[in-house]
Amino acid sequence: MTTSVRPAHLPLGEIRGGRLYGQHILSVKQFSREDVEAIFVIAEEMRTMVERVGTFDLLKGKLLANLFYEPSTRTSSSFTAAMERLGGSVIPISEVRYSSVSKGESLPDTVRTLECYSDVIVLRHPEVGAAATAARYVRKPIINAGDGIGEHPTQALLDLFTIREELGAMDGLTVTMLGDLKNGRTVHSLSRLLAHYKARINFVSPESLRMPTEIMNELSARGMTLSEHRQLDVVLPNTDVLYVTRVQKERFASEEEYNALKDAYVITPDTLKAAKQRMIIMHPLPRVGEISMDVDDDPRAAYFRQMEYGLYVRMALLAMVLGKA
Ligand code: CP
Repeated sequence: MTTSVRPAHLPLGEIRGGRLYGQHILSVKQFSREDVEAIFVIAEEMRTMVERVGTFDLLKGKLLANLFYEPSTRTSSSFTAAMERLGGSVIPISEVRYSSVSKGESLPDTVRTLECYSDVIVLRHPEVGAAATAARYVRKPIINAGDGIGEHPTQALLDLFTIREELGAMDGLTVTMLGDLKNGRTVHSLSRLLAHYKARINFVSPESLRMPTEIMNELSARGMTLSEHRQLDVVLPNTDVLYVTRVQKERFASEEEYNALKDAYVITPDTLKAAKQRMIIMHPLPRVGEISMDVDDDPRAAYFRQMEYGLYVRMALLAMVLGKA
C-alpha cells in the first residue's frame, strides 16, 4: 500500500535497497510480516555496529529534517541519534512556533520547503492523517512520528522489536494493553502489527477510553482473539506483555474530565505479585504516575530498554528508506 517516491530518473536495475527504499512510512498497515522481519534483521545489525563502533558512515552526506508540531523527547532525539550514528546530519525543527509555521505557513508548503534541503522528513503533528497529507506534496520520504490519536508506526515497530528481544518470540503471545486506549496512538499501531503474529490482546481501560470500535472491528476481521475489561486483575496472571499507557491529558476537552480518569490504573510492585515471572512491562513513555517508580528495578520492567531498542529500529528504517540497507 506504500506510495513510491523513488526518484524517477533511476532505472529499475539501479534501484538500491529493498521494498522500503524511497517509501513513506505512514501506517503499520503498509507492512507485511516479511517487511517487519526484514527491518528487525537490519535493526540487529545496527545494534551490533553501535556496540562495536558507535558511529559509522552509512548515511554520510544525507540530511534528515526533524519536524515536530507536538512535544517529543524520545522520538525526536532517537531519530537525531539514529541519523548521527549513521554519519548523517539533522535539521531540527522541534519548536515550530519559531519557524514560519507561526506566520501561518501551511503543512504542504512547510514540507515542500524541507524537501529542498533534506533527504527524508520525520513529522509529528496533532492531526490524524497529517503525515499522509504531507506525503502527497513531496517526493522525499515522510516518516510519521505520530499523527494525533492516529498512528505511531515507528513506535509500534520498536515495541514489537522489544518483545522479540526480551521474550525471544512474537507469535501467540498474550498482550494486555492498559490505560487510554482511545487516544493512545501507540496501541492503535501496535495492535495492528500484532495481527501478523496471532497475539491474543486484552484491552483494559475505563469505559470512556476504550479502544475505538473501528480498530476492534479491523482486528477481529483479521482473526485476532480480543477481549475488553475494566479491571486488570482478571487478565494479569496470563499476560506475557503488559503494555501500559498514559492517560493523554492533551486530548481531553476539560481538566476535570482528565482528573477523573488519570489515576484509573497504577502499577506497583504489589500489582505485579499476580504476574508471571517471565513476562515484561512496557510503556511508550512518558509516564505520569501510571507505573510507580518502585517497579523500575524489577527485571520485568522493560520500558527503559525499550527506548534503546528504538534507536536500532529507527537506524534500520532510515537506512532502508534511503536505500543504504
Ligand atoms: N514514545 C514517544 O513517542 O515518546 P515522545 O513523545 O517523547 O517522543
